[in-house]
Amino acid sequence: MKNFLRALRFAWPYRGRLVLSLLCAVMAAALWGLNFTAIYPTLKLLRADSSLLAEVDQQIAALQKEIEKVESNLDRLQGRAREVEELPSNRYSEQMRRDATRDLVKQESRLENLRRSLYHTRLARKFVHDWLPVDPFRTLAVLLGLVLVAVMLKCSFEFCQDWLVGSVINLGLFDLRNEFFRKVLKQDAEQFGDRGSADLMSRFTTDMEALGLGTKTLFGRVVSEPLKAAACVIFACMISWQLTLLFLVMVPVAGYILGRIGRTMKQATKKMLERVSNIYRILQEVLGGIRVVKAYTTEPRERIRFREATRDYYNRAMRVVRLDALTGPAIEVLGVAAIAMALLAGSYLVLRRHTSFMGLKFSEQPLDAEALLQLYVLLAAIADPVRKLSSVFTKIQAGGAAADRIFDCLDREPRIRANADGPALRVDDDGRLSAPPVKGQAAPPLIEFRDVCFSFEPGRPILSHLSFRVDHGETIAIVGGNGSGKSTLLSLLPRFRDPVHGSVMVLGHDLRQVNVRSLRHAIGLVSQDTVLFDDTIHANIAYGSRSATREEVEGAARKAFAHDFITRLPNGYDTTAGECGGKLSGGQKQRICLARAILRDPAILLLDEFTSQTDAESEALIHRAMAEFVRGRTTFMITHRMHTLEIASRILVLDHGHIAGFGSEAELLRNCPAFQRLSEPGGELHAA
Ligand SMILES: Nc1ncnc2c1ncn2[C@@H]1O[C@H](COP(=O)(O)OP(=O)(O)OP(=O)(O)O)[C@@H](O)[C@H]1O
Ligand SMILES: [Mg+2]
Repeated sequence: MKNFLRALRFAWPYRGRLVLSLLCAVMAAALWGLNFTAIYPTLKLLRADSSLLAEVDQQIAALQKEIEKVESNLDRLQGRAREVEELPSNRYSEQMRRDATRDLVKQESRLENLRRSLYHTRLARKFVHDWLPVDPFRTLAVLLGLVLVAVMLKCSFEFCQDWLVGSVINLGLFDLRNEFFRKVLKQDAEQFGDRGSADLMSRFTTDMEALGLGTKTLFGRVVSEPLKAAACVIFACMISWQLTLLFLVMVPVAGYILGRIGRTMKQATKKMLERVSNIYRILQEVLGGIRVVKAYTTEPRERIRFREATRDYYNRAMRVVRLDALTGPAIEVLGVAAIAMALLAGSYLVLRRHTSFMGLKFSEQPLDAEALLQLYVLLAAIADPVRKLSSVFTKIQAGGAAADRIFDCLDREPRIRANADGPALRVDDDGRLSAPPVKGQAAPPLIEFRDVCFSFEPGRPILSHLSFRVDHGETIAIVGGNGSGKSTLLSLLPRFRDPVHGSVMVLGHDLRQVNVRSLRHAIGLVSQDTVLFDDTIHANIAYGSRSATREEVEGAARKAFAHDFITRLPNGYDTTAGECGGKLSGGQKQRICLARAILRDPAILLLDEFTSQTDAESEALIHRAMAEFVRGRTTFMITHRMHTLEIASRILVLDHGHIAGFGSEAELLRNCPAFQRLSEPGGELHAA
């Protein structure tokens, strides 16, 4: 429940509305209880031959008679007490004295109660006399009118309470969603990989809804329903607190049962929400890869997989439904048992005209049937809020389970810290990268890998002891077989990952200390998997440079040889790319991504197979443009194509995570067997 309470903190800024909603709930509850008290006068009126005033007068007379009786009793008892006082002291007389005092006290307290009743009845008489008509039927009509007004008032308060609570919940969720999104954006590449976006999406949607429902229930029903029940209990206590107490005996039993069910409910909900994540995962996979599914005609298999996931969800959801459905009846049975108990004792008192049952005193005067009926109605009225409350508990537990899953994500600290106070990199006017000077290093290289090792999991090294330096303005081509670690190496530069051993230095600073935003500002990236957003082509190219003008965007598109095909699209630069760029071809997407990196005009350019999907003619043109573009900036480009190497000043050959060679093409062809193998006819660089 800790996380659920933490989630409630998001409602704290809106506490003013919560206080107002509480006031509304108190008013609604008071009116709810009050409305039931109309039963007694109604019954009295229906049964009476005379007016309500005459009835009240009769009651006053009866009370006065009773008081007189008790007073004379008291006189008699006082006389007896005096007589007993004078008896010689012995064991027998001591006992008599004690008995006399006890009787005296009893009668005195009875007298006091009767006088209080008389006072209340006189007050009631004044109200009846001043406000109600004499004719019983008219009185009843006025009474019902009053009830109607009270119900309307109660409903207005309930509406206000619901509205206020709803607004607090939605405002709180608004803040929580944004906070969640902020945290998720902060997570690093590894953490995304661990969880998968489908899981995060289900946390954003289903879990947030469950949490919202839980908090709404807490601020809504948990406040209003007990207040309603309390109002009824208070009015019932006015008739007979002893009988009401007998009814309340069942409360701890109900609490215990609800506690047990609630705990099971939390577990069940957690499992159910996990199954929702599974469904999202399958949907994302299948819908994202729908072409592959269709091409390999695996629809039946996917249908079965989805069916199993949804069946699993169904089973888990049904468990939640069962637990939810169980609470209502369980509480109802307990409620009826409690009412039966109180009613049984009450009926005994009415039918036998007694004031005590099984040795226990239940009321000062024998109850009349109307009062018992009124008590019954009030106790039965408690059943409704209690029944509603029973489902509350399970909803809050479900909200608790959702809160656990949400905060599990929120609490994940990114391993890669932003280093806002770290040394910041700056791009000078001439496009060179500069950083605060490092003591003892006059002219540090731009990038230096110092014995860098990297692995995703222990015992499976991906990069092993890489050491090399790159200076300003160099264009480094990285070549190597599939899985040799090229993309992983590039991912260390924008700090998507950190080395597990050694360090990557930029201008003499360890990347781990550098201000990450300034580092990423200096970098332009075209990744191996082209990423486009469902927005216009213009917006996609200007993604990292929002202030770019249309001319600048077009200029970048021209350099990436994308301008021609873009102008041929139905709406030119304003054509939407479709979800994940679905409306464009692979090569077109790649060229838009290249234009995006070019527009950013970065000091360090990272290109991961940037022309792997472009046709030969465009590729040759792009190469020419790139040869121009890379001048004056530092470029790392992964390639599988021989002629791309022409742009490169040096080539880094990776072989299973090791540096097999680093130098110019001519040098490598002379003395690097791995490069010779790659560039042989039929080798990696030729095959492409
Ligand atoms: N997120 C990951 N978790 C675990 N292993 C990974 C992960 N990403 C990559 N690998 C492994 O790291 C190795 C290097 O991957 P990398 O993507 O760097 O290869 P590459 O040289 O770019 O290959 P390609 O030419 O196919 O793009 C591969 O063996 C791959 O299986
Ligand atoms: Mg790669």
